[in-house]
Amino acid sequence: MAILLGVNNIRNKYEFLCVVYLLVVVNCQTDKKAKDEQKDFECPHQVGNGNFADPNTCRRFYQCVDGYPYLNRCPSGLYFDDISKFCTFKNEARCGPIATTIAPITEPPTDLAVKCNPAECQLPYCFCSKDGTIIPGNLNAEDIPQMILLTFDGAVNLNNFEHYKKVFNKKRQNPNGCDIKGTFFISHEYSNYQMIQKLASEGHEIATETISLQSGLQDKGYEEWVGEMVGMREILKHFSNISKSEVVGMRAPFLKPGRNTQYKVIEDFGYIFDSSIGVPPSDLPVWPYTLDFKIPHECKSGSCPTKSFPGVWEVPLNEHYVEDYEGGHCPYLDQCVLHNHDPKEVFEWLQEDFSRYYEQNKAPYMMPFHTNWFSIKELEQGLHKFLDWAATLPDVYFVTITQALTWITDPKTLNQLNNFEPWDCQKKKENTPPNPCNIGNKCALNFKSPDLNFTDIRYLETCFECPNQYPWLGDSGGTGIPGKDNYVPDNVK
Ligand SMILES: *[C@@H]1O[C@H](CO)[C@@H](O)[C@H](O)[C@H]1NC(C)=O
Ligand SMILES: *[C@@H]1O[C@H](CO)[C@@H](O)[C@H](O)[C@H]1NC(C)=O
Repeated sequence: MAILLGVNNIRNKYEFLCVVYLLVVVNCQTDKKAKDEQKDFECPHQVGNGNFADPNTCRRFYQCVDGYPYLNRCPSGLYFDDISKFCTFKNEARCGPIATTIAPITEPPTDLAVKCNPAECQLPYCFCSKDGTIIPGNLNAEDIPQMILLTFDGAVNLNNFEHYKKVFNKKRQNPNGCDIKGTFFISHEYSNYQMIQKLASEGHEIATETISLQSGLQDKGYEEWVGEMVGMREILKHFSNISKSEVVGMRAPFLKPGRNTQYKVIEDFGYIFDSSIGVPPSDLPVWPYTLDFKIPHECKSGSCPTKSFPGVWEVPLNEHYVEDYEGGHCPYLDQCVLHNHDPKEVFEWLQEDFSRYYEQNKAPYMMPFHTNWFSIKELEQGLHKFLDWAATLPDVYFVTITQALTWITDPKTLNQLNNFEPWDCQKKKENTPPNPCNIGNKCALNFKSPDLNFTDIRYLETCFECPNQYPWLGDSGGTGIPGKDNYVPDNVK
């Protein structure tokens, strides 16, 4: 659409936005009121780019891109949640604006990681490059696979399970004949553990995104991170039969990494990777790297680790955007403003974004989603078009994050991939959980969250027996005994 406009004729960003967004509706003049309101909104200083609540209504929000506010409406039926910063169902939306304070950096700057020294950083244990864009193993882009990492954040439940099944429809396959795979960063509340077991049993990767999705976790201490992440891993074991050794990745809620604390937890509790660090928009996408050395790009969130964590992998989130910034830019695809586009335009937008990887250094193309992408038909259909197209490319593999990391630690050329065991699907991996039961137990459980002053009911579905209470921080088994859990680091056992 924007291509038709002639970008040079656009006098200011508002007109641009106006034409792009409202062409479909009527024209810009009729929305003068919105224009005036929009002018009044100021993007907060220091906080940078992101989504911000409209003070007047929970149905709208502003996306700030380089200090300029773009007015957005939540899709029909959805409301803006000012904690998670996206549109969601009314009963889950916490209307804003909710005051936030910018926390001071409390840790003294000692012991800092130094700049990448490739001579001291050798695969398979260490990987870095000066600006993070170099292909591992010194291979040429035309000889390596283009990996696509589909990731899904948050609870898995009836709102989204059928949509996810359509993505992994058993028809889309990688060039080695295996079904395409993805990675799920699970948060606990409202999750259905029978469905999660189903995903895990089909070979998708399950990782943790905290029990409570509390905001402000980036400034909390070691115990909180252990409680949230390791506790989530325990819940997955209790109720989805997923063995602890299979849960090796974590993602910080709202992409706010927990400074050095979170990475200490990764080290201590046998995790292999984090995927929470955003990369500012850049021409060349950044490859995953280990944290032996300093992060090779600006830290968007302001809460990245500063120390060295040898061997811990970071799978960063490169920004998604197209050349004229139509739709803005975003780490999560659902945060870009594409919901006034038709499926074909969504498809073309994804294709252009993808080509920045595919035609350059073939860094893994991560496609991070929240559920709400799938509540808009045009976006979902556009995604299906993109997946069908990408699955026809002879060098494109949709893999889990752990599968991508196994390739990176031991890079293979395209003609070696048919026999690359970590990407094979002939026999089920040893620790893959068994298929779930057909009919799970639907447990209605008492739940008293710390910020609720009353007891509520939460539902939990699992193939295991119902627990006494809704599992929560400190009580992953749902025993009803608060603070029952005691997690011990691997290196202490
Ligand atoms: C959990 O997994 C084990 C083996 O991995 C299996 O023997 C057991 O039946 C499973 N339990 C349920 C409830 O799925
Ligand atoms: C919580 O409940 C107690 C007792 O029912 C009441 O005295 C108190 O005011 C309530 N607190 C809040 C924040 O609602």
